[in-house]
Amino acid sequence: MDLELNETQKLVQNAARDFATRVVGPQAAEIDATERFPRDILRGLAELGLTAVNVPPELGGAGAGVISFALAMQEVARACASTAVMMSVANMVGETIAKFGTEAQRRLYCPKLASGEYPMGSFALSEPDAGSDPGGMRTTARRDGESWVIDGAKQWITGGTYAGIFIVWARTLPPETSAKGISCFLVEGGTPGLKVGRREDKLGIRGSDTVPLEFDGCRVPADALFGQENGGFKIAMMALDGGRIGISSQALGIARAALAESIAYSKERRAFDVPIAQHQAIQFKLADMQTQIDAAHLLSMRAAWLKENHMAFSREASIAKLFASEAAVRVCNDAVQIHGGYGYTREFAAERHLRDARVTTIYEGTSEIQRMVIARTVLG
Ligand code: CAA
Repeated sequence: MDLELNETQKLVQNAARDFATRVVGPQAAEIDATERFPRDILRGLAELGLTAVNVPPELGGAGAGVISFALAMQEVARACASTAVMMSVANMVGETIAKFGTEAQRRLYCPKLASGEYPMGSFALSEPDAGSDPGGMRTTARRDGESWVIDGAKQWITGGTYAGIFIVWARTLPPETSAKGISCFLVEGGTPGLKVGRREDKLGIRGSDTVPLEFDGCRVPADALFGQENGGFKIAMMALDGGRIGISSQALGIARAALAESIAYSKERRAFDVPIAQHQAIQFKLADMQTQIDAAHLLSMRAAWLKENHMAFSREASIAKLFASEAAVRVCNDAVQIHGGYGYTREFAAERHLRDARVTTIYEGTSEIQRMVIARTVLG
């Protein structure tokens, strides 16, 4: 693995860092406090090519690769985790359509996602009773003449209120076929029969829009089928492998913000006549935080590098996601501890980072699911 960034990767990293520092960071506390969907910021990210980093230029994307995507995610997440998760999902949706769509689907939807014409694209896999086990989904799609008719419910859909396009998974064969009877559809936002529910009231990433969906006789044309009929489950798995690189990068960005603020605070705050940074108890925490961040960075970069070089990366993406998300929770927890009582208040960002980090061990596959994926490969 080459650890040296090339010119494109440096360019993307710098552009993301600059935008995150100048525009995103100053709004992050307010986005969290008011649960504001950062539409203007997503538009700004789209203008920089950051909502379609690994989508080919002929489809409107930046064509800058997976490592660039991971680096950009880290920078944006360091400023605002709510914005970063929507950026990650928008990239995953665009990339999935670019990879598995028909020529017509790719040409129709990818440019709209990349340019920001669609404020979001959403990934509608999970259901109220099927999160970790999407093979157990109940939403159905039945063929009716020149249409498909979708009925059912989806849950935890990031960006659903604003999505111009949804990738929707539904059963096209009876439940006993499990993962082998699931197909995938591209459903445009506003399609009759698709109802977007009330936004969830969450612990963290409060600016990110998370909604349930209801499909009630939602009719889409025959050519809304995405990928092979009954071949949808594998598309979900492959998309999630890439998405997990996005979430490990998000976790890493949040952890970096927590460490940077802990360093600054520990140099300022005095106790027992010296800045607390001079106490070994604080120094050891900072050292452990940095060590975990470095390890998470290397694991995330390994997964991104493998994907970029068209090698198998599913296991490495799960390892990166598992480690980075759990490390982020530990790092952010230590950041609160270093800030003492102030860390437990909204006066400092430490508490927001901890709330934001917590979800990274849950979405795009819980830590337990990542361990399942890793264990299967370990056991052969
Ligand atoms: N790539 C390609 N194919 C894959 C694959 C992968 N990574 N993983 C599995 N498959 C294939 C298998 O080879 C198998 O194919 P065959 O039938 O041809 O043999 C098929 O898919 C079924 O695989 P499994 O039998 O392994 O399926 P399973 O039901 O045991 O599930 C699992 C495996 C990995 C646990 C999977 O269910 C999983 O990843 N669960 C977690 C789901 C998840 O991450 N949800 C996140 C929701 S989206 C989200 O959070 C987005 C957001 O908004 C932030």
